[in-house]
Amino acid sequence: MTNQDETVDDLVLADGQKPLIIIASNRGPYAFEWHKKRKELTVTRGSGGLVTALGALAERHEVLWVAAALSKGDRQWVEMNEDRPQTVEGVLLRLVRPSRRAYDQYYNVVANPLLWFIQHQLWDIPRTPSITRETWRAWEKGYVAVNRLFAEAIADSIPPTDRPVIVFPQDYHLYLVPRYLRELLGARVQIQPFIHIPWPGPDAWRILPQEMRLSILTSLLESDRVGFQTERDAFNFVQCCRIYVPDAHSRGARDAIYYKERKVEARAYPISVDVDKLESLAEEPQTPLLKSQLINFTGDRKLILRVDRIEPSKNILRSLEAYRALLENHPQHRGKVQMLALLVPSRMEVGEYQDYLQQIMAQAGMINAEYSDPYWEPVRIMVGENYYRAIAAFQLYDVLLVTPIADGMNLVAKEGVLVNQRDGVLLLSESAGVFYELGDHALVVSPFDIYGTAETMHRALEMTPDERRRRAEAMRRHVRGAGVKTWFYDQVDDAMQAFNSQDRNASTS
Ligand code: F6P
Repeated sequence: MTNQDETVDDLVLADGQKPLIIIASNRGPYAFEWHKKRKELTVTRGSGGLVTALGALAERHEVLWVAAALSKGDRQWVEMNEDRPQTVEGVLLRLVRPSRRAYDQYYNVVANPLLWFIQHQLWDIPRTPSITRETWRAWEKGYVAVNRLFAEAIADSIPPTDRPVIVFPQDYHLYLVPRYLRELLGARVQIQPFIHIPWPGPDAWRILPQEMRLSILTSLLESDRVGFQTERDAFNFVQCCRIYVPDAHSRGARDAIYYKERKVEARAYPISVDVDKLESLAEEPQTPLLKSQLINFTGDRKLILRVDRIEPSKNILRSLEAYRALLENHPQHRGKVQMLALLVPSRMEVGEYQDYLQQIMAQAGMINAEYSDPYWEPVRIMVGENYYRAIAAFQLYDVLLVTPIADGMNLVAKEGVLVNQRDGVLLLSESAGVFYELGDHALVVSPFDIYGTAETMHRALEMTPDERRRRAEAMRRHVRGAGVKTWFYDQVDDAMQAFNSQDRNASTS
């Protein structure tokens, strides 16, 4: 593991060369907006876990970032720069510009919901999904086409250089990039995708037609190593390759697969938060302001908090049901607790996400209708994106609910335990990747067990101050000890070691 204070600039190869690092992701680190009246483009930081994790590192180091143009403003930025990479706030950025139709098919049909729902096991399989002619068209004209476009843009952006090149394609949007990149660039680049979401075992992947499944797996096997959030995900990937890819063998390994005379590693790099950045955001003036607004709202009640994207895999509905069961089965908490859900809109073009938000609002309304009194609104849902408000709420919670059905990691749990000031208790699903790091100190629940979750909330609310402190301190210590720098530098380190050993092999052969 790399030292947290080390930077990529300190990481040079044995022969003294510095690698050229390329990140590729669907959502980029910056979003552009065109202001008609002022006739200018403004730039803001992109949102989401992936961008937050990588963005801060990219600003500190020499990185080329290739992403998709998502908005009208992004497209205008590309036109102004004639498709050439440009430096934005220290990051060399290139945006690819698929047609709107191709992007819609790639993002709103194949990536979300098809792949996302398979990997989070969200399909209601007696009824959904139906893979239709439209799905196949979206695969060919959308997913395949956009992945090829990404690979071409990456290859085209590499300046003439003798420096070693490492490409890090991010996540489920870009599974086919390794194949096209290998075709374009051969063995001279290290290709190292990182998959932010869970990788389920072979049975879950049967939903995907064989041709699509094989295409994804054999493309990933063109990489040098594939990064996952947990060892379980890496192991599942190895099993999928063994079962579905003819001629792929694990030779008994849990973390590698041999294919076409090459060894492809499957490694866990658990993602984390930018500890310094988060602590400094907590110090900025907006945070205490929002914190006092929240204190006015909660009064001296205990705060049960959740912070999520509006996302079916987050299991927001069942946690509302569990809260209702708590109020029903333990009436002593009525009027003494406050549930607050800070929900960030996400993928609102996809029908499943629109329905989910409506169901959440209806469920919260039912709880309030049943239990509220003139002085108490049992649950408050706040929809919108306000990171400072989330940090203020993290500081104040007594119980933090992180109860997804499946989740690659879940950074809310790490952010929460890092900045909380009340020795709050973490209620954690055994199906979140973060369970493997914080499970010993959290109260662990099954995401499907509404009664069990309600009883565990009761236990958290009744926990002695000593036990709360002991658990909260242990979790804080863990997060401080392995921040996002460790996640990133460990990946760079592995790619560089591979370059070093290639050189050694070349010089001894
Ligand atoms: O978990 C995968 C992920 O890419 C996160 O990094 C991010 O928070 C989320 O999905 C955002 O998805 P989208 O770009 O579709 O809004």
